[in-house]
Amino acid sequence: MKAPLIIGNWKSHKSVSEVKKWFAELASVIGSPNHAEVVLCPSYQLLSLCEQEVSRHQLHWKLGAQNVSPFPEGKHTGEVNATQLKDFVQYVLIGHSERRNEFHETAEMLFEKVKRVQEAGLTPIFFVQGEDTPLPPSIGIVAYEPVFAIGTGNPDTPEDAEKVAHYFKTVKKVPKVLYGGSVDEKNVNLFMSCSSIDGIVPGTASLDPVGFAHLVQNA
Ligand code: PGA
Repeated sequence: MKAPLIIGNWKSHKSVSEVKKWFAELASVIGSPNHAEVVLCPSYQLLSLCEQEVSRHQLHWKLGAQNVSPFPEGKHTGEVNATQLKDFVQYVLIGHSERRNEFHETAEMLFEKVKRVQEAGLTPIFFVQGEDTPLPPSIGIVAYEPVFAIGTGNPDTPEDAEKVAHYFKTVKKVPKVLYGGSVDEKNVNLFMSCSSIDGIVPGTASLDPVGFAHLVQNA
């Protein structure tokens, strides 16, 4: 049985007190560790707190960042660079459609981010919106997220997600492909049953601790 990679993308949600409450509630229902590899991606300022909570509750999870600067260390006010992230995370999300659309991140900028992350020894998870999304060289994990499925409660069909995942694995030779877009505790198994899908990226469904615990158990 494959170990699903589950990337919880909290986006721009949660305060310090909400995070503490989230972990306390999750810990009371999640049970013993299962086969899934869970990576939680909170906002930067919550990373340290999440690290403490993960270890306090013995969850054996990893952390990821939702973004990274395309620049190295230097005079770039407001930016968090890949070397700084090394103290907190193992993964970095790059190319989410919300960043492409709301912050006008171009393929060129995204490829630069991937380079910085790889140079820092971290693992980029590169988001694609379909088969025609340009890929940076030597990417190990791709997350397929069709825009219509994000935050809508209207996921892609497992058949279509499998077709796109298969394309990236066979034609583009990407070792791991994830699916994201309205994944929840009820449908997670349909996507994890697809032979080319190695994991999933729940956004909305990662915000509720009980729902997320069930999602992890059902994956
Ligand atoms: P969603 O978000 O689960 O709320 O659709 C997924 C994502 O955007 O990563």
